[in-house]
Amino acid sequence: MTTLEKARGPLRGEVTVPGDKSISHRSIMFGALAEGDTTITGFLESADCLSTIDCFRKLGITIDREEDEYKNVKKITVHGKGLNGLSAPIETLYTGNSGTTTRLMSGILAAQPFDTSITGDSSIEQRPMKRVIDPLTLMGASITSARGNGCAPLNIEGGKTLKGIDYTSPVASAQVKSAIILAGLYAEGDTIVHEPALSRNHTEIMLSAFGADIHNETANDGTASAILHPGRALHGIDINVPGDISSAAYFIAAALIVPGSELLIKNVGVNKTRAGIINVLKKMGADITLLNEDNSQESRADILVRYSKLCGNENGKFIIGGKDIPTMIDELPVVAVLAATADCETIIRDAAELKVKESNRIASVVENLTAMGCDAEATDDGMIIRGGKPLFGASINCHADHRLAMSFAIASLAAEGPTVIQDSECVSISYPTFFEDLKNLTR
Ligand code: S3P
Repeated sequence: MTTLEKARGPLRGEVTVPGDKSISHRSIMFGALAEGDTTITGFLESADCLSTIDCFRKLGITIDREEDEYKNVKKITVHGKGLNGLSAPIETLYTGNSGTTTRLMSGILAAQPFDTSITGDSSIEQRPMKRVIDPLTLMGASITSARGNGCAPLNIEGGKTLKGIDYTSPVASAQVKSAIILAGLYAEGDTIVHEPALSRNHTEIMLSAFGADIHNETANDGTASAILHPGRALHGIDINVPGDISSAAYFIAAALIVPGSELLIKNVGVNKTRAGIINVLKKMGADITLLNEDNSQESRADILVRYSKLCGNENGKFIIGGKDIPTMIDELPVVAVLAATADCETIIRDAAELKVKESNRIASVVENLTAMGCDAEATDDGMIIRGGKPLFGASINCHADHRLAMSFAIASLAAEGPTVIQDSECVSISYPTFFEDLKNLTR
C-alpha cells in the first residue's frame, strides 16, 4: 500500500526510466536460441523479465548477471546454444504475471523435441491462450489447456514437425504474432502473419539483427504482415535496451497534469509501433518534443514535456481509436487519467483488448476514476470520460495490475486529499523503482 498526496509544486528536471520490457524479454529469448553469447545492457530487471530468465535457465541456458557499484544490473550475458540447444526442464515452467513470456514461450516450446508444461499466476491462468494455441496447432503443434478453458496451464507435446503457415490474426497482437514467428523458425516453409494493424515489431527488428530473414510489409489500408523465411541460424549480438515508453508515459502524464512542470525523460524507445501516446497527446494539445532522435534499429529519443491544458476538438470531444490503439495499448490507463483532467469528453474505442490484460482494464480504470469523482463510463470496446471535474483522493483497487497502480499514482498528483494505492507492490512487474523515482520528482 502506498499513500500519495497532491503535487505541491511543478515537476522539473530529468528522469531516466528502466529498460523496455518487451525488448528485454526478447533479448533473453532470442539470445538463448542464438549461437554464441548475447550481451544486454539497459536490461529491465523487473519481475516479468526475471520470469523469462528463470524459464530459460530451466531449459538449460546459462545467463550471467554483472552488477554496478550500486548492485544494479550492468550487463546480462546469455550463453546461447542455438535453435536446437534447449534441454527438457525437470519442472513446470512458471511465467509469473507475464503474458509475453507465456505466449512467446509457447511458440518456442511447441517446436522442441521434449514435452513441457507452462503456467503462471492467477491472472495468467485467466488470460486467453487460445489465440496462440489455434495458430500453433495449425502449424502442427500439440498444445492443450490443462483445464480445458483455453487458458494456462498449457501442456505442450514435443517432437512435432511444424510447417509454416499464412495466418490472419483477428487481433493486432505482438504476442500472437511473435509466438507464431518463433515456431516458424523451426518450421518447414515460410511463415506469414497478417494483422489488422501493425503491432509492436520488436520481434521482427531483433530477430533480423540476430540473422533471421524476416521483414514487415504494411498495405495502404494499414493492415500489416510479418514474413519469415526460416533456415538461417541465429548468432549472438550486443543489445542496448532503450527506456520503456510505457514507463515514460507516467512521467509524461505527470508533467502534463501538474501546472508549471517541465521534464526531460532521457533515452526512451520511440519505435513508431509504440509511440502512439505521443502523437495522440499532441493532438489533444500536449507540448511534447523529441530531442536527440536516433533511428538506427530500435528508435530512441529524449522526450521533453511541458505542462499543457489538454482539450478536445471544437465540439469538446476527442476520440482515440482505430490503428492508434495497438501503438498505445498499455498506455491507455494513464491516458484515461489524463482525459479525466482534460476539459473535454474523451471516447476511447476499438480497445476491447483492454479487457484481457493483467486486469480487465476497461472495468478497473472506470471503477477507480469513478472513485476519484470523475464522470467515466465503460463501453464494450473502451470507455467514455467526461473530463474537467475535480478529482479527489480515494482508495485505489489495482486488481494487482501494475499499470493501474502507476496510472492512479499519477492521478493522485491532481487530486484533493490523500490517494491510497492498494497492492502498490505490483509495480515490481514492470517498474520496481517507480515510487522512488516519482518521489524524487515531486519532493
Ligand atoms: C507485448 C504486447 C502487447 C502488450 C504487452 C507486451 C509484447 O500485448 O500489451 O504488454 O511484448 O509483445 P498483446 O500482444 O496481447 O497486444
